[in-house]
Amino acid sequence: MESATLTYNGKKIELPIIIGSEGEVALDISKLRKETGIITLDPGYVNTGSCRSEITFIDGEKGILRYRGYPIEELAEKCSYLEVCYLVIFGDLPTADQLKAFEERISKHTLLHEDMKKFFEGYATNAHPMTVLSTMVASLTSYYPKATVEEDMEKNMIRLLAKVKTIAAFSYKKSVGQAFIYPRNNMTYVEDFLNMMFAVKTENYKINPIIVKALNKLLILHVDHEQNCSTSTVRMCGSSESTLFHAISAGIDALSGPLHGGANQAVIEMLEMIQADNGDYQKYIDMAKDKSTGFKLMGFGHRVYKNFDPRALILKEATDEVLAALNKKDPLLAIAKKLETIALEDEYFKERKLFPNVDFYSGLIYRALEIPKEMFTVMFALGRMPGWIAHWRESRIDPAFRIH
Ligand code: SDX
Repeated sequence: MESATLTYNGKKIELPIIIGSEGEVALDISKLRKETGIITLDPGYVNTGSCRSEITFIDGEKGILRYRGYPIEELAEKCSYLEVCYLVIFGDLPTADQLKAFEERISKHTLLHEDMKKFFEGYATNAHPMTVLSTMVASLTSYYPKATVEEDMEKNMIRLLAKVKTIAAFSYKKSVGQAFIYPRNNMTYVEDFLNMMFAVKTENYKINPIIVKALNKLLILHVDHEQNCSTSTVRMCGSSESTLFHAISAGIDALSGPLHGGANQAVIEMLEMIQADNGDYQKYIDMAKDKSTGFKLMGFGHRVYKNFDPRALILKEATDEVLAALNKKDPLLAIAKKLETIALEDEYFKERKLFPNVDFYSGLIYRALEIPKEMFTVMFALGRMPGWIAHWRESRIDPAFRIH
């Protein structure tokens, strides 16, 4: 095995080199403190891998994103969201029979315990749906106690995937003062979510295949992204053997921040601000370049991608397709495209390798689907749910499992 030599204070130690499945190189420092008494400092863990994982591969320079070895471009085009959920959690794409059984299991767990409906009554009407989602997911622990064996853990994973869309839709209905619409087992995952969101007691919701296809793609593109802020939070929380529901609730809290998943809502609010300011996008580009303003161009930049975010490329194309197919015009799209063109030619952004990330276009599609902006980060959480679950499961079955 290759190693690196560290010499410090007259002492020399060999640190093993680990090579990943794509040739990535890592230095294993797990014996550093014991043998030298020194530790590493790495703000934001930019240079640190916290675990070995087989779930997702990202090449930030080449703009590559693969779930269990499959390029997201293929999965987004050819698979259903539940197929990709199965892939990231269990490691392989399901056969037709496995997918059918998985879909049936999910459809049997979409209802919440009726007592949980009372929790919604306690929230302020303007409670942010991410706040509701986080606390309702944690509350599932009071109905489905901690699982200690794999079979029960798997059942709780199914329960969570099934119930999270009901919780999300109910939190939206609560925010608009409408009656809850119950899940329907004869609909697909995405159709059922849209129906619970937009049907009303007096009128069925007409399922539009264009909207279903767009939402299916959006959810798939958000499924996982290696060790990011929220996924690392799920692993960190799960490392104490807290329940799946508590660990995922912690991940939802981390995702809510505007530097992370909250960016998709912040992008639309930024575009609305520019629109209200006579569309003066140059003013906001200049503000983003002037540190004293504290203003950042939301939806721009990424901690890993340093050339382009492959998800943003797919979503940019999908935005045009969805708006054309639904015969909708969105003035914010024109502002977004102008911002992108100017920023990509500006030295400040080029030097710092800042370009649109996954959040820059996703909000424009959610708007076209008539999903309110307060729900955008909940949509991100819905998409990321299987990724979080997969990482929680992988960490629990990892022989090197230990508290962080
Ligand atoms: C997601 O990690 C993931 O995988 C996350 C995610 C996922 O799928 O889980 O991909 C989803 O969170 C996407 C990112 C969404 N966030 C935003 O769009 C918010 C705006 N972006 C930034 O806050 C920022 O770009 C980050 C947080 C995304 C990345 O920050 P980094 O990698 O720590 O970069 P940095 O802060 O070190 O910035 C480097 C330079 C700095 O300037 P200098 O000090 O070198 O002069 O670039 C500047 C920053 O000030 N900069 C920006 C900027 N982003 C970075 N300047 C203006 N506008 C921006 N958006």
